Amino acid sequence: MTDFTEYAKALRARIDIALNQVIPETPNSQLAEAMRYSLASGGKRIRPLLLFAGYRATAGQQEHPALEIAACALEAIHAYSLIHDDLPAMDDDALRRGRPTCHLAFDEALAILAGDALQTLAFELLADTPGLTDSTRVQLIRSLSRAAGMRGMVVGQAIDLAAVDTELNITRLEHMHRCKTGALIDASVTMGALIGGASDQQLNILARYSRSLGLAFQVHDDILDVTADTATLGKQQGADLARNKPTYVSLLGLSSAQARAYELYQEALTALAELDGDTELLQRIAHYVIERRH
Ligand code: IPE
Ligand code: IPE
Ligand code: MG
Ligand code: MG
Ligand code: MG
Repeated sequence: MTDFTEYAKALRARIDIALNQVIPETPNSQLAEAMRYSLASGGKRIRPLLLFAGYRATAGQQEHPALEIAACALEAIHAYSLIHDDLPAMDDDALRRGRPTCHLAFDEALAILAGDALQTLAFELLADTPGLTDSTRVQLIRSLSRAAGMRGMVVGQAIDLAAVDTELNITRLEHMHRCKTGALIDASVTMGALIGGASDQQLNILARYSRSLGLAFQVHDDILDVTADTATLGKQQGADLARNKPTYVSLLGLSSAQARAYELYQEALTALAELDGDTELLQRIAHYVIERRH
């Protein structure tokens, strides 16, 4: 790959277009408008990037028609998680991707419903994915539903909210991060590999990569809360601190958190070294995850 930045930019633009088309035109529908607002461009589209990279590592460069739809399903789940994460009952945030959060741009009830509808839309998209066997389709649905639900993102969010104003030890903090963020990162890579027809052995190696990367992603998110500025971040800087959330930075301090992110990055690369395939994109994404500025 010549230029990762260019590749990522082009894929983002492509996913933005695809996402624009997944919500049917329903005139005067506030619900559809709130869904579209939250799916709209501005996201880094890291989960689609990982999906495409997981596919490439197992199947090569020849593209598959299911990839774009699976990418939209991942972004739909992610957008729903962000809408709910920002609600007053959760993180109570006003800014997301440089714009008012969904509940402020619309209202709280509509934001809850837009999140609900984005979640179910994701599974509808996967059920209709072209060019796959029924068995692969079921595997994709299983992978995404497990990652999003009570063993993944949702339980991570529950632990996060219960931990406000408390001190978690590092083991519990790591568990929370792996659930709330790591699980969906893991599913992104796995789903790409499943579309690529990966063997169990390939899936296991990729799971080790994404387990490290998923944690690194949230460690870096915690770091950015302290080091970035609101304009670059597109969300309120210092929000974790203001809400007294346990984070990698609050527990370890900034430089140890940065060292931990780097260590996890190295672990991710070590896992990849065992894979006999084109892993360059996965490597570049791992580097981007710990270097990104927003
Ligand atoms: C933010 O995710 C929420 C976390 C899981 C840390 P991203 O940093 O991927 O958000 P966007 O999609 O790029 O806005
Ligand atoms: C969110 O973690 C994880 C999700 C499942 C959305 P954060 O609460 O740290 O995400 P941001 O910082 O608001 O994007
Ligand atoms: Mg949160
Ligand atoms: Mg938040
Ligand atoms: Mg955060």
